[in-house]
Amino acid sequence: MKIVIASDHGGFELKEVIKEDLIKKGYSISDIGVDSTKSVDYPDYGKRAALMVANKEVDKGIIVCGTGIGISIAANKIKGIRCALCTNEYMARMSRMHNNANMLALGGRITGIGLAIDIVDVWLSTDFEGGRHENRVNKVMEIEKLKEEE
Ligand code: RB5
Repeated sequence: MKIVIASDHGGFELKEVIKEDLIKKGYSISDIGVDSTKSVDYPDYGKRAALMVANKEVDKGIIVCGTGIGISIAANKIKGIRCALCTNEYMARMSRMHNNANMLALGGRITGIGLAIDIVDVWLSTDFEGGRHENRVNKVMEIEKLKEEE
């Protein structure tokens, strides 16, 4: 599985830890920055990572900012993206089973390293349940079309 990983300065340290852990576990990781804690704008990184997922250059995306809020909002502006901000394993599991999230957002200033790694593991290993959730996810994606028409 190919995964893009990105962060702003607020998520840099957690992104690095997650990246190293995923590489050790055999995932193919594309790290598109940042490379330091120098201040940057989270929308730039959320957008770039989301475009790679939307364009199917990678299978999934993991993005980190200080809270996870700004970067997830930015990613969710890209067509085809369902980015879930998760602070625990239950949210991670449900975001895959029920929402078919294709991106995971984490808060570098919110979630500790051990929990974040568990969240990532659960998120990557849980499949979409389909069934009644398929229709609901389709309805969510239909909203993108409304936006274009208005
Ligand atoms: C940067 O200071 C911070 O605003 C950013 O990392 C993020 O938390 C925004 O939602």
